[in-house]
Amino acid sequence: MKTQQKGFVIAIDGPAAAGKGTIVQLLTEHFKGVNIYTGGMYRALALKCIRSDIDLNDSEQIIHILNETKIDLGADGSMGAVAQIFLDGGNVTNEIRTPKAALGAGKVGQIKQVRQVMLFKQREIAQRFVDQGRVVIIDGQDIARSVYPQAKVKIFLTATQEERAKRRKKQYDKQGINKTMSDMLEEIKIRDTNDFTRELHPLSNVPEKDGYSVVDSTNLNELETKDAIVEIVSKNK
Ligand code: C5P
Repeated sequence: MKTQQKGFVIAIDGPAAAGKGTIVQLLTEHFKGVNIYTGGMYRALALKCIRSDIDLNDSEQIIHILNETKIDLGADGSMGAVAQIFLDGGNVTNEIRTPKAALGAGKVGQIKQVRQVMLFKQREIAQRFVDQGRVVIIDGQDIARSVYPQAKVKIFLTATQEERAKRRKKQYDKQGINKTMSDMLEEIKIRDTNDFTRELHPLSNVPEKDGYSVVDSTNLNELETKDAIVEIVSKNK
């Protein structure tokens, strides 16, 4: 009888535009795993607010709309491929990749009730796949400390602000979104301030102390970064 592989979680946290999306995709392919893209869930809620003309500073309305919103991960799309994000049944995977949705995600992610709902949902989805014996790669900002503290491997993926601004600009260029380097650096700085200093589940300022293996990808290409993480996984799992 074939024994089922034991499932485990690789948590990948880190600041905006550190390359999590690409690296997670490579890791998901490498391990034939499942990706849970938590940022996409916050972006989807932000998109819903933007579409419904809800002020992103109005937490009461945002909580209200969250109760009427269905955010899901694609069952097929998330298997060894880019996680597909569904908002009220519609695939919004591409639509959430805008500067507006990114900044909006940062705003809705500061609301306690929103984080509680997301955290519960993310934990539930992760556990379901672990129980099926899958390698689950969850990327976000607070995964290793809040969503899945028992993760076998905890990675903090980072790069300098300048390098991250450069990478994000490249992404936007491809999407036909025009931004200058100074616009991009400004966006990254705003997002870092928000993500490292928010009251609830901020990004760690002392990742080593918090139990992470830190991977600084400033001078690494995508494959080198993926390989560095695969090596950490093989030592830790
Ligand atoms: O990873 P991504 O760039 O898509 O995340 C968008 C934003 O969503 C982050 O900058 C952060 O403000 C928020 N977020 C969060 N908690 C997570 C993932 C993302 O607050 N677990």
